Amino acid sequence: SGGIVVVIGSIHDDRFSYVDRLPAPGETVLAGSSDRGIGGKGANQAIAAARLGAGVTMTAMVGEDEAGLAATAGLAGHSVSVDTVGRVAGEVTGYAAITVDAAGENSIVVHSGANQALDPGAAERAVAQLPADRRAVVVCQCEIPQATVAAAAAATRAPHRFLLNLAPAVPVDPGTLRRANPLVVNLVEAAQVAGHLGVTPEGNNPRDLLTALLGYAPAVVITLGADGALIGDDSGVEHVPAVRPAEIVDTTGAGDAFVGAVAAYLASGATLPDAVRAGCAAGSVAVSRRGTATSYPDVADLATAGTAAHRG
Ligand code: RIB
Ligand code: NA
Repeated sequence: SGGIVVVIGSIHDDRFSYVDRLPAPGETVLAGSSDRGIGGKGANQAIAAARLGAGVTMTAMVGEDEAGLAATAGLAGHSVSVDTVGRVAGEVTGYAAITVDAAGENSIVVHSGANQALDPGAAERAVAQLPADRRAVVVCQCEIPQATVAAAAAATRAPHRFLLNLAPAVPVDPGTLRRANPLVVNLVEAAQVAGHLGVTPEGNNPRDLLTALLGYAPAVVITLGADGALIGDDSGVEHVPAVRPAEIVDTTGAGDAFVGAVAAYLASGATLPDAVRAGCAAGSVAVSRRGTATSYPDVADLATAGTAAHRG
Protein backbone atom coordinates (compact mmCIF):
# COMPACT_ATOMS: atom_id res chain seq x y z
CA SER A 1 0.00 0.00 0.00
CA GLY A 2 1.05 3.63 0.42
CA GLY A 3 0.16 4.86 -3.06
CA ILE A 4 -0.74 8.48 -3.78
CA VAL A 5 -4.40 9.49 -4.14
CA VAL A 6 -5.56 13.01 -4.97
CA VAL A 7 -9.25 13.65 -4.48
CA ILE A 8 -10.64 16.74 -6.21
CA GLY A 9 -14.19 16.96 -4.96
CA SER A 10 -16.91 17.91 -2.53
CA ILE A 11 -17.04 18.42 1.20
CA HIS A 12 -20.44 18.50 2.93
CA ASP A 13 -21.71 18.91 6.43
CA ASP A 14 -23.87 15.76 6.60
CA ARG A 15 -27.03 15.93 8.74
CA PHE A 16 -28.59 12.51 9.25
CA SER A 17 -32.12 11.69 10.37
CA TYR A 18 -32.93 8.06 11.09
CA VAL A 19 -36.61 7.29 10.45
CA ASP A 20 -38.79 4.19 10.18
CA ARG A 21 -39.76 5.11 6.62
CA LEU A 22 -39.00 7.99 4.27
CA PRO A 23 -41.69 10.72 4.28
CA ALA A 24 -44.14 10.96 1.39
CA PRO A 25 -44.69 14.39 -0.26
CA GLY A 26 -46.55 16.62 2.20
CA GLU A 27 -45.88 14.30 5.10
CA THR A 28 -43.99 15.03 8.33
CA VAL A 29 -42.25 12.14 10.09
CA LEU A 30 -40.40 12.17 13.40
CA ALA A 31 -36.85 10.82 13.44
CA GLY A 32 -35.86 8.25 16.03
CA SER A 33 -32.36 9.72 16.16
CA SER A 34 -30.08 12.10 14.32
CA ASP A 35 -26.39 12.55 13.66
CA ARG A 36 -23.90 14.90 12.04
CA GLY A 37 -20.58 14.23 10.35
CA ILE A 38 -18.16 14.99 7.52
CA GLY A 39 -19.58 14.04 4.15
CA GLY A 40 -19.61 14.84 0.50
CA LYS A 41 -18.60 12.17 -1.96
CA GLY A 42 -15.15 13.71 -2.28
CA ALA A 43 -14.39 13.81 1.43
CA ASN A 44 -15.86 10.35 1.94
CA GLN A 45 -13.68 8.86 -0.81
CA ALA A 46 -10.59 10.64 0.54
CA ILE A 47 -11.17 9.20 4.00
CA ALA A 48 -11.95 5.73 2.63
CA ALA A 49 -8.63 5.71 0.73
CA ALA A 50 -6.67 7.10 3.71
CA ARG A 51 -8.14 4.46 6.05
CA LEU A 52 -6.66 1.84 3.71
CA GLY A 53 -3.16 3.32 3.85
CA ALA A 54 -3.03 5.62 0.82
CA GLY A 55 -1.33 9.01 1.09
CA VAL A 56 -4.32 11.23 0.33
CA THR A 57 -4.57 14.91 -0.55
CA MET A 58 -7.95 16.61 -0.80
CA THR A 59 -8.53 19.59 -3.08
CA ALA A 60 -11.83 21.24 -2.19
CA MET A 61 -13.64 24.39 -1.03
CA VAL A 62 -15.50 25.01 2.21
CA GLY A 63 -17.30 28.09 3.44
CA GLU A 64 -16.22 30.66 5.98
CA ASP A 65 -18.15 28.96 8.75
CA GLU A 66 -17.85 26.59 11.66
CA ALA A 67 -18.94 23.60 9.52
CA GLY A 68 -16.05 24.23 7.14
CA LEU A 69 -13.54 24.33 9.99
CA ALA A 70 -14.98 21.15 11.49
CA ALA A 71 -14.93 19.29 8.18
CA THR A 72 -11.36 20.35 7.43
CA ALA A 73 -10.21 19.33 10.91
CA GLY A 74 -12.08 16.05 10.54
CA LEU A 75 -10.34 15.24 7.27
CA ALA A 76 -6.97 16.04 8.81
CA GLY A 77 -7.89 13.79 11.73
CA HIS A 78 -8.27 10.96 9.21
CA SER A 79 -4.72 11.71 7.93
CA VAL A 80 -5.95 13.42 4.75
CA SER A 81 -3.74 16.36 3.71
CA VAL A 82 -5.90 19.51 3.65
CA ASP A 83 -3.32 22.07 2.41
CA THR A 84 -5.41 22.52 -0.75
CA VAL A 85 -8.78 22.87 0.98
CA GLY A 86 -9.71 26.54 0.47
CA ARG A 87 -12.24 28.79 2.20
CA VAL A 88 -14.71 30.90 0.24
CA ALA A 89 -15.56 34.26 1.79
CA GLY A 90 -19.26 34.83 2.29
CA GLU A 91 -20.28 31.27 1.28
CA VAL A 92 -21.61 28.42 3.37
CA THR A 93 -20.01 24.99 3.48
CA GLY A 94 -22.00 22.54 1.37
CA TYR A 95 -24.47 20.47 3.32
CA ALA A 96 -26.50 17.32 2.85
CA ALA A 97 -29.84 16.50 4.47
CA ILE A 98 -29.80 12.70 4.65
CA THR A 99 -32.75 10.57 5.69
CA VAL A 100 -32.15 6.89 6.40
CA ASP A 101 -35.02 4.42 6.81
CA ALA A 102 -35.23 1.23 8.87
CA ALA A 103 -34.00 -0.85 5.92
CA GLY A 104 -30.85 1.28 5.63
CA GLU A 105 -32.01 2.99 2.43
CA ASN A 106 -31.41 6.70 2.14
CA SER A 107 -32.52 9.81 0.33
CA ILE A 108 -30.24 12.84 0.14
CA VAL A 109 -30.68 16.52 -0.69
CA VAL A 110 -27.46 18.49 -1.23
CA HIS A 111 -26.90 22.24 -1.11
CA SER A 112 -23.51 22.72 -2.80
CA GLY A 113 -22.55 26.11 -1.33
CA ALA A 114 -18.77 26.60 -1.41
CA ASN A 115 -18.19 23.49 -3.55
CA GLN A 116 -19.36 25.48 -6.57
CA ALA A 117 -16.32 27.75 -6.12
CA LEU A 118 -13.80 24.94 -6.75
CA ASP A 119 -12.38 26.20 -10.04
CA PRO A 120 -10.48 24.44 -12.86
CA GLY A 121 -7.22 26.12 -11.82
CA ALA A 122 -7.35 24.39 -8.43
CA ALA A 123 -7.66 21.02 -10.17
CA GLU A 124 -4.76 21.81 -12.51
CA ARG A 125 -2.53 22.85 -9.60
CA ALA A 126 -3.40 19.70 -7.67
CA VAL A 127 -2.41 17.48 -10.59
CA ALA A 128 0.72 19.54 -11.37
CA GLN A 129 1.97 18.92 -7.80
CA LEU A 130 2.16 15.16 -8.37
CA PRO A 131 5.62 13.62 -8.53
CA ALA A 132 6.37 12.55 -12.12
CA ASP A 133 8.15 9.35 -11.06
CA ARG A 134 5.39 7.83 -8.90
CA ARG A 135 2.02 6.47 -9.89
CA ALA A 136 -0.90 8.47 -8.46
CA VAL A 137 -4.65 8.19 -8.83
CA VAL A 138 -6.63 11.40 -9.37
CA VAL A 139 -10.24 10.95 -8.26
CA CYS A 140 -13.25 13.14 -9.12
CA GLN A 141 -17.00 12.90 -8.52
CA CYS A 142 -19.65 15.28 -9.84
CA GLU A 143 -20.65 17.47 -6.89
CA ILE A 144 -18.22 20.20 -8.09
CA PRO A 145 -18.33 22.29 -11.29
CA GLN A 146 -18.16 20.21 -14.44
CA ALA A 147 -15.35 22.40 -15.83
CA THR A 148 -13.20 21.50 -12.81
CA VAL A 149 -13.74 17.77 -13.38
CA ALA A 150 -12.84 18.27 -17.05
CA ALA A 151 -9.67 20.16 -16.09
CA ALA A 152 -8.58 17.38 -13.72
CA ALA A 153 -9.17 14.80 -16.44
CA ALA A 154 -7.28 16.79 -19.06
CA ALA A 155 -4.31 17.47 -16.75
CA THR A 156 -3.79 13.86 -15.64
CA ARG A 157 -1.04 12.09 -17.64
CA ALA A 158 0.75 8.73 -17.33
CA PRO A 159 2.02 7.35 -15.01
CA HIS A 160 -0.95 8.88 -13.20
CA ARG A 161 -4.48 7.69 -13.69
CA PHE A 162 -7.83 9.48 -13.64
CA LEU A 163 -10.76 7.78 -11.87
CA LEU A 164 -14.17 9.35 -12.52
CA ASN A 165 -17.06 8.49 -10.23
CA LEU A 166 -19.93 9.94 -12.25
CA ALA A 167 -22.14 10.56 -9.22
CA PRO A 168 -24.51 12.26 -9.41
CA ALA A 169 -24.85 11.35 -13.09
CA VAL A 170 -24.64 14.78 -14.67
CA PRO A 171 -23.88 15.08 -18.40
CA VAL A 172 -20.09 15.16 -19.00
CA ASP A 173 -18.13 15.92 -22.13
CA PRO A 174 -16.77 13.04 -24.22
CA GLY A 175 -13.14 14.12 -23.65
CA THR A 176 -13.55 13.63 -19.90
CA LEU A 177 -15.14 10.21 -20.36
CA ARG A 178 -12.30 9.12 -22.68
CA ARG A 179 -9.83 9.81 -19.85
CA ALA A 180 -11.85 7.99 -17.18
CA ASN A 181 -9.74 4.94 -16.31
CA PRO A 182 -11.94 3.70 -14.84
CA LEU A 183 -15.38 5.31 -15.00
CA VAL A 184 -17.23 4.10 -11.88
CA VAL A 185 -21.04 4.27 -11.68
CA ASN A 186 -23.82 2.40 -9.95
CA LEU A 187 -26.57 0.81 -12.01
CA VAL A 188 -28.92 3.80 -11.83
CA GLU A 189 -26.13 6.17 -12.84
CA ALA A 190 -25.03 3.83 -15.64
CA ALA A 191 -28.52 4.02 -17.13
CA GLN A 192 -28.58 7.81 -16.75
CA VAL A 193 -25.17 8.21 -18.42
CA ALA A 194 -26.22 5.92 -21.29
CA GLY A 195 -29.33 8.09 -21.62
CA HIS A 196 -27.27 11.27 -21.84
CA LEU A 197 -25.10 9.67 -24.50
CA GLY A 198 -28.14 8.42 -26.42
CA VAL A 199 -27.00 4.78 -26.21
CA THR A 200 -29.60 3.28 -23.86
CA PRO A 201 -29.62 -0.49 -24.50
CA GLU A 202 -32.90 -2.36 -24.74
CA GLY A 203 -33.83 -3.69 -21.29
CA ASN A 204 -31.13 -1.61 -19.55
CA ASN A 205 -29.36 -4.73 -18.24
CA PRO A 206 -25.92 -4.32 -16.61
CA ARG A 207 -23.87 -6.12 -19.27
CA ASP A 208 -25.39 -4.17 -22.14
CA LEU A 209 -24.95 -0.91 -20.23
CA LEU A 210 -21.31 -1.83 -19.63
CA THR A 211 -20.79 -2.49 -23.33
CA ALA A 212 -22.48 0.78 -24.24
CA LEU A 213 -20.32 2.82 -21.81
CA LEU A 214 -17.15 1.07 -23.02
CA GLY A 215 -17.70 2.90 -26.28
CA TYR A 216 -16.86 6.12 -24.37
CA ALA A 217 -14.47 5.23 -21.52
CA PRO A 218 -11.46 2.87 -21.71
CA ALA A 219 -12.46 1.07 -18.48
CA VAL A 220 -15.86 0.95 -16.79
CA VAL A 221 -16.95 -0.39 -13.40
CA ILE A 222 -20.68 -0.72 -12.67
CA THR A 223 -21.46 -1.37 -9.01
CA LEU A 224 -24.46 -3.64 -8.42
CA GLY A 225 -24.96 -3.53 -4.64
CA ALA A 226 -25.75 -7.02 -3.42
CA ASP A 227 -24.68 -8.42 -6.80
CA GLY A 228 -21.14 -7.09 -6.64
CA ALA A 229 -19.67 -5.26 -9.61
CA LEU A 230 -19.07 -5.61 -13.33
CA ILE A 231 -15.73 -4.57 -14.81
CA GLY A 232 -15.06 -3.96 -18.48
CA ASP A 233 -11.89 -2.88 -20.27
CA ASP A 234 -9.83 -3.95 -23.28
CA SER A 235 -9.11 -7.30 -21.61
CA GLY A 236 -12.83 -8.18 -21.47
CA VAL A 237 -15.65 -8.27 -18.96
CA GLU A 238 -15.39 -9.64 -15.43
CA HIS A 239 -18.00 -10.01 -12.71
CA VAL A 240 -16.79 -9.56 -9.13
CA PRO A 241 -19.21 -11.04 -6.58
CA ALA A 242 -20.37 -9.00 -3.59
CA VAL A 243 -19.05 -9.53 -0.09
CA ARG A 244 -22.15 -10.18 2.03
CA PRO A 245 -22.46 -7.67 4.89
CA ALA A 246 -23.17 -8.94 8.40
CA GLU A 247 -26.33 -6.81 8.28
CA ILE A 248 -27.46 -3.72 6.40
CA VAL A 249 -27.65 -0.76 8.78
CA ASP A 250 -26.94 2.30 6.63
CA THR A 251 -26.12 2.35 2.91
CA THR A 252 -25.19 6.07 2.88
CA GLY A 253 -21.75 6.56 1.36
CA ALA A 254 -21.15 2.85 0.71
CA GLY A 255 -20.44 3.72 -2.91
CA ASP A 256 -17.81 6.18 -1.68
CA ALA A 257 -16.19 3.47 0.44
CA PHE A 258 -16.03 1.39 -2.75
CA VAL A 259 -14.49 4.19 -4.84
CA GLY A 260 -11.97 5.16 -2.13
CA ALA A 261 -10.83 1.56 -1.79
CA VAL A 262 -10.52 1.12 -5.56
CA ALA A 263 -8.41 4.30 -5.73
CA ALA A 264 -6.18 3.23 -2.83
CA TYR A 265 -5.54 -0.19 -4.34
CA LEU A 266 -4.94 1.12 -7.87
CA ALA A 267 -2.51 3.69 -6.43
CA SER A 268 -0.55 0.93 -4.74
CA GLY A 269 -0.27 -1.01 -8.02
CA ALA A 270 -3.18 -3.48 -7.79
CA THR A 271 -4.93 -4.66 -10.96
CA LEU A 272 -8.41 -3.27 -11.61
CA PRO A 273 -10.14 -6.57 -10.65
CA ASP A 274 -8.16 -6.77 -7.39
CA ALA A 275 -8.97 -3.14 -6.64
CA VAL A 276 -12.66 -3.80 -7.31
CA ARG A 277 -12.59 -6.82 -4.98
CA ALA A 278 -11.23 -4.54 -2.24
CA GLY A 279 -13.95 -2.03 -3.13
CA CYS A 280 -16.69 -4.63 -2.71
CA ALA A 281 -15.30 -5.66 0.69
CA ALA A 282 -15.08 -2.00 1.76
CA GLY A 283 -18.69 -1.36 0.70
CA SER A 284 -19.85 -4.38 2.65
CA VAL A 285 -18.22 -3.15 5.87
CA ALA A 286 -19.58 0.38 5.28
CA VAL A 287 -23.24 -0.71 4.99
CA SER A 288 -23.01 -2.72 8.20
CA ARG A 289 -22.37 0.40 10.32
CA ARG A 290 -24.06 3.79 10.72
CA GLY A 291 -22.84 6.91 8.95
CA THR A 292 -20.30 7.44 6.19
CA ALA A 293 -16.63 8.00 7.08
CA THR A 294 -17.13 6.60 10.58
CA SER A 295 -18.23 3.30 9.01
CA TYR A 296 -15.29 2.82 6.64
CA PRO A 297 -12.90 -0.09 7.11
CA ASP A 298 -9.18 -0.09 7.75
CA VAL A 299 -6.93 -2.81 6.34
CA ALA A 300 -7.72 -5.20 9.22
CA ASP A 301 -11.51 -4.76 8.81
CA LEU A 302 -11.15 -5.40 5.10
CA ALA A 303 -9.21 -8.62 5.68
CA THR A 304 -11.91 -9.81 8.13
CA ALA A 305 -14.69 -9.00 5.64
CA GLY A 306 -12.84 -10.78 2.84
CA THR A 307 -12.20 -13.85 4.99
CA ALA A 308 -15.82 -14.01 6.14
CA ALA A 309 -16.90 -13.83 2.50
CA HIS A 310 -14.52 -16.65 1.66
CA ARG A 311 -16.08 -18.88 4.29
CA GLY A 312 -19.41 -18.13 2.62
O1 RIB B 1 -22.42 9.46 -1.16
C1 RIB B 1 -22.84 9.93 0.09
C2 RIB B 1 -22.68 11.41 0.17
O2 RIB B 1 -23.56 12.00 -0.77
C3 RIB B 1 -23.04 12.04 1.50
O3 RIB B 1 -21.94 12.12 2.37
C4 RIB B 1 -23.64 13.38 1.11
O4 RIB B 1 -22.89 14.47 1.57
C5 RIB B 1 -23.74 13.36 -0.41
O5 RIB B 1 -22.72 14.05 -1.03
NA1 NA C 1 -22.38 3.15 6.78
